[in-house]
Amino acid sequence: MQSVGVFHTKGGVGKSAVTVFLADFLSSLHERRILVVDLDPQGSSTRALIPEPRLKEAFDEGRSLSKVLAATSKGKLTRKAVEHAIIHRTPTSKPRRGSVPLAEVGVLATEPRGYRSLADVMGELPKAERKKHLCMLRKVLDEVADDFDLALIDFPGSELPFWTFMGLRATDFWLLPEIPDYFSAAAVDLVTDSVLQTRVLTGHAVKPLGTLLTICPNRSSTVYKKTRTALAHLETLAAIPPLFPKDCEILHRPDAQKAIDWGTEQLSTLSQRYGAASSPFHVGLRKLAKHVLTRLGDVSDRDQLSFVADLRRKLTDYWR
Ligand SMILES: Nc1ncnc2c1ncn2[C@@H]1O[C@H](COP(=O)(O)OP(=O)(O)O)[C@@H](O)[C@H]1O
Ligand SMILES: [Mg+2]
Repeated sequence: MQSVGVFHTKGGVGKSAVTVFLADFLSSLHERRILVVDLDPQGSSTRALIPEPRLKEAFDEGRSLSKVLAATSKGKLTRKAVEHAIIHRTPTSKPRRGSVPLAEVGVLATEPRGYRSLADVMGELPKAERKKHLCMLRKVLDEVADDFDLALIDFPGSELPFWTFMGLRATDFWLLPEIPDYFSAAAVDLVTDSVLQTRVLTGHAVKPLGTLLTICPNRSSTVYKKTRTALAHLETLAAIPPLFPKDCEILHRPDAQKAIDWGTEQLSTLSQRYGAASSPFHVGLRKLAKHVLTRLGDVSDRDQLSFVADLRRKLTDYWR
């Protein structure tokens, strides 16, 4: 199993949306066995994949990532416990001929109360002790490494550094979502910093997979052009992962909201979620899924991020 972390320290940049899009297209069109790891207690990607009543039932049965992590922190991790915690999205109705049914996806969801109590426990540990626990998520994923081809890790906004570093320690490849917006793009130095710090803290090097512009309202706007120019420059410095091509950038579309803000009960095919197979949104997501697979096959050990001194100034210069 490989793992892709969809990571940015800012909320609202499309992390959860990208996670769900990739889970849907890679499982349904490319037959990849996908495990979505929703590290965010807000549960945006979980709710898009698992209808709320089922989710509540699962949490009541103690099936959550937080439960497994709590067990792991006490040295009680078992494969059975991880398998039990995974909630499976299964298609609910038989689709019409020619349409693509949404395939099964496994979801490890963070239960909000469990998240808080685990966060408290970790917060109270001495620093050195806490550091030892950063590999917990990696250990959990290793237990089910044979059952899935790809884990997609959906990060929370960085309210808790422990969560961020634990997620990055479990991340093989980093996908950076960016929106054409000054505040999002100009904060990218902090994001890259977290990724580089993971290596210092844990010895694990996260490899760059790609930077993706998402929720793009208008690609002829000045802010879109400035953002793309700034990111293209950072790419040449290896300060961020290489940009995905324009044809798979994610446009601002009402269909996107429909796909990620609703559960799957009434939406059981790709077209029901993303519009007709020939629509620009659906076509773009198909291209993105293909690009991701190609890059996952291509990334070599030489691909690494670089520390760039004075990145913040270089970035803000673009908005002068
Ligand atoms: N391509 C898109 N077009 C329109 N709205 C989108 C798109 N992608 C995401 N959204 C909406 O933007 C908001 C933030 O997206 P989300 O994926 O939750 O971001 P994050 O996980 O980074 O906080 C959500 O309400 C979501 O429905
Ligand atoms: Mg999110």
